[in-house]
Amino acid sequence: MDGNGRWATKRSLPRNTGHREGINAMTSIAIACKGLGIPYVSFYAFSTENKNRPKQEVDGLIGLMRDKFDELRDDFNDNDIKLCVMGDISYFGKSLEKKINDAVEKTKNNKSIVVNVALNYGGRDELSRAATLSAQRNAPISEFLYTSGQPDPDILIRTGGEKRLSNFMLYQLAYTELFFVDTLWPDFTEKELNAIVQEYYYRDRRFGK
Ligand code: FPP
Repeated sequence: MDGNGRWATKRSLPRNTGHREGINAMTSIAIACKGLGIPYVSFYAFSTENKNRPKQEVDGLIGLMRDKFDELRDDFNDNDIKLCVMGDISYFGKSLEKKINDAVEKTKNNKSIVVNVALNYGGRDELSRAATLSAQRNAPISEFLYTSGQPDPDILIRTGGEKRLSNFMLYQLAYTELFFVDTLWPDFTEKELNAIVQEYYYRDRRFGK
């Protein structure tokens, strides 16, 4: 969900206002994915590296999660969306961790779509954690990823014009089709999502064969 900061700066607004708009866009796109019959969608909200941003922005983002998580839980319930979380949320402290876990718990029986939200998530972090558990328990690494039991993504969309993965789902994206768009995340719409899904159908996927 890249481009929240630039979206706000272009309007002479604080960066956190861009992140707030970013959450609204996330909910709209999750609902649009459900409409398209997409069974799983993952959003990269807060990376392990985002913690190194200026304290004011990190505090702002955490404050926003604290403010918005109950609303997110209710929006997800109203739309039959199951929330899953990827990442080590203990970093956010007991009260926010509880709020996030409450949203996961209260949406766990929803059936229309699974929405993974990556919070304090890093692909390398996920892999080293999974590799340790895999060695200890003598079972495949994939069983210990946050997305265990889910299919690998077919499509990755990065907004905001940058063309890199930035430590996102490094194991799961091995054969994913990549789409990079210049649109800033808060401006990303269902129309643009539909266009990407249409283009995806013309991609020739060979999985190395
Ligand atoms: C990237 O834009 C966006 C982020 C680092 C944060 C995204 C977080 C949210 C949308 C909030 C998550 C909260 C909940 C409740 C799920 P950027 O800041 O890197 O934008 P820029 O590249 O234009 O500076």
